[in-house]
Amino acid sequence: MDTNSEPWWKTAVVYQIYPRSFCDTTGNGVGDIDGITAHLDHLGWLGVDAIWLSPVFRSPMVDHGYDISDYCDIDPLFGDLVAIDTLIDESHARDIRVILDWVPNHSSDQHPWFLESRSDRTNPKRNWYIWRAGDPSTPPNNWQAEFPPGPAWKWDDQTQAWYLHMFAPEQPDLNWAEPAVREAMYDTLRFWLDRGVDGFRMDVVHLLGKPDALPDRAKGPGRPLTEFDNQVTHEYLREIRAVLDRYEGDRMAVGEVYLLDPARVADYYGSDDELHLSFNFMPLWSEWDATVWREQIRLAADAFEPVDAWTTWVLSNHDVPRHRSRYGGNEQTARAAAVLLLCLRGTPFMYAGEEFGLLDADVPPEMAQDPAGYRDGCRAPLPWDGSSNHGWVKPDNWLPFPPEADTRNASAQMADSGSIAALYKAVLAARRRSPALQIGTQRILETHQLVLAFHRVHGTDQRIIVVNMSDEDVDSIAVGSGWQTEVRSDTTDAIAWTQSLPSQTAIILKPA
Ligand code: GLC
Repeated sequence: MDTNSEPWWKTAVVYQIYPRSFCDTTGNGVGDIDGITAHLDHLGWLGVDAIWLSPVFRSPMVDHGYDISDYCDIDPLFGDLVAIDTLIDESHARDIRVILDWVPNHSSDQHPWFLESRSDRTNPKRNWYIWRAGDPSTPPNNWQAEFPPGPAWKWDDQTQAWYLHMFAPEQPDLNWAEPAVREAMYDTLRFWLDRGVDGFRMDVVHLLGKPDALPDRAKGPGRPLTEFDNQVTHEYLREIRAVLDRYEGDRMAVGEVYLLDPARVADYYGSDDELHLSFNFMPLWSEWDATVWREQIRLAADAFEPVDAWTTWVLSNHDVPRHRSRYGGNEQTARAAAVLLLCLRGTPFMYAGEEFGLLDADVPPEMAQDPAGYRDGCRAPLPWDGSSNHGWVKPDNWLPFPPEADTRNASAQMADSGSIAALYKAVLAARRRSPALQIGTQRILETHQLVLAFHRVHGTDQRIIVVNMSDEDVDSIAVGSGWQTEVRSDTTDAIAWTQSLPSQTAIILKPA
């Protein structure tokens, strides 16, 4: 029954922080590292095991930090190295691990490496990025950038050549085929590992291995959902893993492998010599529907279990509308989703603010910030209290607060035992008590078509989770007798389990 022999990242719940929007302590309208440290007690209260910070490194902020100009320093907007050291120490003092966001596929065009590379065709760093000479009117191939829409190539007058950028033109792709690039990037990992970070979220790692010939791609514009030369990528991932494995304490790599096919994603775990975890993003794009969920749980199990890979579950992050917004705005649905996310077999990744049941903010066009154009709503500042500043220095910040901030804020919800934040806390506590919920096997139960039900077992510990994802109350859910309620997502007082569930409600059952 002991789960201590498992690596921490298997039993952990990870909480993603978008630092620009967590909490501002300086009055510049942008969240900072000290703001995170100031709210660690909230995270301790909630009971998460690790935080992942979206990038806080030096950056011109074209893509709000995903365009890095110094991988080994903190952007002054967010603080400095002292601030991050303090955050790491204070987190560790509360048994909270710290994961940083490493962006290996591209740097900023203001990174000194790129400035050198672009300065002259004979510069020693020329080959650190992907350059192609040719005709200024015809890009070298048909690859499309993620944003803004258009070719993934920019013509550079200085040296009369094209350079590749799979994202914005200010995010030139590093040339991973160049060994010196890989060595320099591994040094950046070591820099942070030496400072005590527990792991990295690795941005779009499936894009690292570009084929030498840069052939046209069959797929047209849109999110780069296809792979490049994955054999080469796997080789790089093994090198990355070897860097982490030299450190004590299970330093972890979770990769953003943005392929919506779990079988393809599972490949990036290698034979326990590549990524430890990889995001399974199917739920970001699928409906709140029991039949759909049964299917995607099966797909994930079929992909990950046979190769002994441990999956992840994600409902929200900084790149998509929040799940409460996606699922139609009903608080009951968001509450049931919390139970589901935290009870599935795999490592759950929460996105800051989902514990308040936040909706996306309404961002007027004149306040738009996102280079991709659709991600501002989910990146709105977190409300900490009910005052006009909501715990920030000023009421007006880089983005407006989300709706209902008067009640959907930390201080109101922490004081209310019926709040969605209190529910998250209760489910996190239930999970911590139960080896079955942390690492148990998982079997889908065929009960009622409108409900998703599954059984988790580890040794003698077991739980059944039932989620009514429909708008109908469902009676007669046949899960057998001998079960009692441990946690339920609604605030009903009737906690006796009667084999029935109101619409949009989830329940955790334990043996009576
Ligand atoms: C990832 C990040 C996204 C970023 C992009 C480029 O998809 O999650 O926010 O814009 O990579 O780094």
